[in-house]
Amino acid sequence: MINIIRVKDYEEASDKAFEVMKQFLVPGKVLGLATGSTPLGLYARMVKDHEENGTSYADIHSYNLDEYVGLPLEHPESYYSFMHRNLFNKIDIREENAHVPSGLGEDLEEQARKYDEMIDNEPVDIQLLGLGSDGHIAFNEPGTPFDSGTHVCDLAESTIRDNCRFFDNDMSKVPTQAVTQGIGTIMKAKHILLLACGANKAQAVKDMLEGPVDESCPASILQNHPDVTVIIDEPAAALLK
Ligand code: F6R
Repeated sequence: MINIIRVKDYEEASDKAFEVMKQFLVPGKVLGLATGSTPLGLYARMVKDHEENGTSYADIHSYNLDEYVGLPLEHPESYYSFMHRNLFNKIDIREENAHVPSGLGEDLEEQARKYDEMIDNEPVDIQLLGLGSDGHIAFNEPGTPFDSGTHVCDLAESTIRDNCRFFDNDMSKVPTQAVTQGIGTIMKAKHILLLACGANKAQAVKDMLEGPVDESCPASILQNHPDVTVIIDEPAAALLK
């Protein structure tokens, strides 16, 4: 079941997202977190709420969706760095409770299997998702099997193009692989909160909500999840019936 919330713009989308997230900011909850431009407004609101209202993350755990393969942790565009810069360093979550998959080391598939095991042991209460312009969720590109677990994947050329804005607009600097939670992993979350803003997401939003459930649009699988909230702004909703 997808509950669709249509808002005017990005700021309103971030406000609504925070309203949903706030219910989960209580001890014992497990958050599934995302990177990219979309969650920044929500993370700013979570930081403000921590600073002004004292909301504590000391007993909250988190699992991120994905990480580039081969970027050192301290690289400013590693998702490890992104999460520390935009959220973890500004709240009181414990480092050992804030999990980001590793894109470094010898046996990435084995590490991916262990990541899924950890998530199975503490199921995610709310999974935050952005949406790729090609319909991807996490780095599950079109064609990824719906039952996939955490795995190493190749980035689609459109994703490399979308993300090169973070790498001096130089596509050759964008890593070509990532470790990503699989679609099967994401679907285990009890509640899913997907945000999509901007005209470049409009086709993916339409395919996700109105298209068939098909691996050509990874996000379309959310139609089969029992509890999803989708927040979209006007430009992202422009192609909906
Ligand atoms: C990030 C992630 C990606 C992004 C998507 C949208 O952890 O998994 O799927 O959510 O690429 O990116 P933005 O928000 O930058 O438009």
